[in-house]
Amino acid sequence: MREKLLFISCLLVLLVSVMSCTSSKPRYVIGISQCSEDIWRDKQNAELKMGAYFHDNVELKFAAAYDSDERQVQQIDSLVATGIDLLIVAPNQVSTISPAIDRAYDKGIPVIVFERKTSSQKYTAFISADNYEMGHVMGEYIASRLGGKGNVLEIKGLEGSSPAIERHNGFMDAIKGYPGIKVVGSLQGDWTETTANERTKQWLDNNKDVHVDLVFGANDRTAMGARKAFSPLTSYPTPLYCGIDGLPGKDGGIQLVRDSLLDASYIYPTHGDQIIDLAIKILEGKPYEKETMMMSALVTRDNAKVLLMESEEIMRQAAHLDQLHQTADSYLHELDTQRMVNWLAVGIIALLVIVFVLFYLYHLRKIALQRERVVNTLWNMDVEKHETATPSNPTSPPSKESEDAEPVSAFITRFKEVVESRLADSDISVEDLAADMNLSRVQLYRKVKNLTGSSPVELLRTARLNRAYQLLLTTDKSVSEVAYDVGFTAPSYFTKCFKEEFGMLPGDVRQN
Ligand code: FRU
Repeated sequence: MREKLLFISCLLVLLVSVMSCTSSKPRYVIGISQCSEDIWRDKQNAELKMGAYFHDNVELKFAAAYDSDERQVQQIDSLVATGIDLLIVAPNQVSTISPAIDRAYDKGIPVIVFERKTSSQKYTAFISADNYEMGHVMGEYIASRLGGKGNVLEIKGLEGSSPAIERHNGFMDAIKGYPGIKVVGSLQGDWTETTANERTKQWLDNNKDVHVDLVFGANDRTAMGARKAFSPLTSYPTPLYCGIDGLPGKDGGIQLVRDSLLDASYIYPTHGDQIIDLAIKILEGKPYEKETMMMSALVTRDNAKVLLMESEEIMRQAAHLDQLHQTADSYLHELDTQRMVNWLAVGIIALLVIVFVLFYLYHLRKIALQRERVVNTLWNMDVEKHETATPSNPTSPPSKESEDAEPVSAFITRFKEVVESRLADSDISVEDLAADMNLSRVQLYRKVKNLTGSSPVELLRTARLNRAYQLLLTTDKSVSEVAYDVGFTAPSYFTKCFKEEFGMLPGDVRQN
């Protein structure tokens, strides 16, 4: 019975622990190391998140280095240290970030380099639009916009970053074919509007008599920085401004072109969702392209309106999707909480069952001990005293213990009488005792063992030793005589048993 209950409780505990370890798809943690933080990166990060929405087992960890090589290296190392499964990185400059990327790659972490290049070959995949092509198309556009003749001020992107180098090279290669196009200045920018603005102001101060027809900024923010440097100069004929990025939305390049603040831009696709899809392919061991070139396009006044409308529609739908996702998220969250509450309830019930079972077992053991104690008391008690002390005493109501013990007491008393009457007989066997009790040997053994915790033979021996103790105290008989009187056939064995029972030798009883 006890074993059965224990088995059931163990099963319950096992069930609870097995059910709490629900099986699931492998979880992927993707680290994203952005070289900087601006509206282009914001849009891309939002798309990366959106891409991850479609995979319930993907977690993204973002880090932005704010154009600092040192910070980006540190961030990559700490992303790797947190145990990411894949790294997506836009390196600030070509060579400075490569060692950190190499370290991640050497640890077996797949690396997707996106949009800006690294000098190392240690990457899993590269995804970007073609920056050389962009610069080249811009060069062609600018040359034709100026009718093959005019002065251009170029403001480059961050020195050492691959899009800056490639856009510049593409642009220069394109205008080579137009001898009337002159680059009157090539300023070092760093992708930010502020730097472009400051550098343009300085240049204007030093080149007061040089006329500029068009400013080519390596990105739209740079072009706008230059524009803000030119605009206070009222006497200066307004140049045209071209940039790259062509972002949709408010203050994005497409709107700036539509509103004629920029003459042209070039869409530099962000496509965060596409990058996530590539990451998942790599993580799931599916086939993927090692080098992906994304499509891009020139934005001019001719197509800006249409592009803006289209991009606004896409953004509207994306916002809708985001809202949907948030609703689904909160629903899932509720579901999770509900599931947790259910598990908690199951846990508590299991715990209660275990406590109940343990309590029940404890109670059973207590009852058994109580019964043993009662029976042992009866065994050692004077029978007559016991008879008068229990049921017939009207002043004290019978306790539960004594009620339980009543039929037991009769049996024990009878058994004690039988044992005491036969203990001198050294040949007496359990069968004989059982016969005197009108029971079989097995019945007697079971009942006595059950009630007292001792076997009939053990009780017989205890009774013999108790009687011997009395005889030693009250008679002058020798130890051997006493031993024979109480049914022992060998005095030496008697002495041994006596020592075991009372912790002293038979001879010591008299001396004490
Ligand atoms: C965004 C950005 C873009 C530019 C690109 C070049 O951080 O500065 O404006 O086109 O990076 O890598």
